[in-house]
Amino acid sequence: MKKIISIVGARPNFIKIAPVAKAFKKFRKDIKHKICHTGQHFDQRMSEVFFDQLKMPRPDFNLGIGGGSHAEQTARIMLELEKVLAEERPDLVIVPGDVNSTLAAALVASKMGIPIAHVEAGLRSFDKSMPEEINRIVTDVVSDYLFVSEHSGMRNLRDEGMGESKIHFVGNTMIDSLEANYELIEACTITKEMGLDPSGYIVGTFHRPSNVDEPEALKDLMASLSRLAKERKLIFPVHPRTRKNIERYGLDSQIPKGLIITEPLGYIEFLSLVRYAELVITDSGGIQEETTYMGVQCITVRKNTERPVTIDVGTNHLVGIQMEKVERTALDILGGTTKPGRIPELWDGKASKRIADIVMEGLGLS
Ligand code: UD1
Ligand code: UDP
Repeated sequence: MKKIISIVGARPNFIKIAPVAKAFKKFRKDIKHKICHTGQHFDQRMSEVFFDQLKMPRPDFNLGIGGGSHAEQTARIMLELEKVLAEERPDLVIVPGDVNSTLAAALVASKMGIPIAHVEAGLRSFDKSMPEEINRIVTDVVSDYLFVSEHSGMRNLRDEGMGESKIHFVGNTMIDSLEANYELIEACTITKEMGLDPSGYIVGTFHRPSNVDEPEALKDLMASLSRLAKERKLIFPVHPRTRKNIERYGLDSQIPKGLIITEPLGYIEFLSLVRYAELVITDSGGIQEETTYMGVQCITVRKNTERPVTIDVGTNHLVGIQMEKVERTALDILGGTTKPGRIPELWDGKASKRIADIVMEGLGLS
């Protein structure tokens, strides 16, 4: 019997690993798949709700790390995870995405000589001021399996000289979750409950430090959202980082009527809102992909994206961080200037199955 441990910590990790855990169930006679939660995200609405809604097995281990500076958070995960891995001695560790939990797990496993599979390898923003870019580069360097979600990832890994035998174009496991839950998402009644006209409202989400950590940037963002909320109702589920800063800078007193602020939403509710929205404005990585899959117009408030397929093939508009430009593009889209999109190659709901098959072969089990 071989043992695999998937390490998750932050909201997008749960969504990327739920279908992978399901795919390994098929091989349960040969493989024991366990989940270790670092505790990087810990609120019920940032963590447990995803285990519930995605019907994901409860974590076998929870390191209870929480927040902190990059060094504190990464170091605490490393210290606690090393103990778990020393005890469990898995044959493979799986790490998804680009958060600090991903980096910490990859570093610990590599020093312990445990093979690593990186789900969502090869994405690059080419912007090292983003912590995620450092996390991606380091994780890819120490990984043995590089599971890639879009063609740019294949190019980047080859350009960086990664061994061809490690690189596998498998598709996107975040889209596996979306595809598996699509009926529930379409049937969800949240738009009705919130009194929204289908295709007549905007959804906004933001959590990048470049948009929400500096008072001026956050003030500009909130002012723009407030102006757009006069054109259409704008639903704004607020990430904990953003909420802390809105409170810290006293921006919570000037919120106009059309701007509907909520707690972070459950997966099904959130994606149902996105599915029927006229426009999504975000700086999230995953939401750029989900809007492309669903053909929903998306404005990305960032200078770059590590997911260029959402621009080249999908419905994403990368506009930078100047809010006048964001507002202008939003008004154009609301006025009917939309971008047609297609679903990128291999975003077909089967990426996790491909991953499980490749791992089985790699472990000599098929
Ligand atoms: C992290 C990831 C980012 C990812 C995002 C997904 C890193 C460096 N950043 O950013 O790449 O896009 O998750 O959402 O790993 N907090 C709570 N409750 C929670 C979660 C967080 O109060 O459930 C607080 C933390 O204590 C901290 C702040 O929110 O004060 C930020 O959390 P943290 O995990 O450090 O970074 P994120 O901004 O969430
Ligand atoms: N999401 C959610 N509820 C919300 C906001 C986002 O379920 O209120 C989901 C979203 O659909 C996507 C994931 O969270 O699947 C993206 O996570 P996040 O934006 O936090 O991280 P990123 O992708 O930017 O790393």
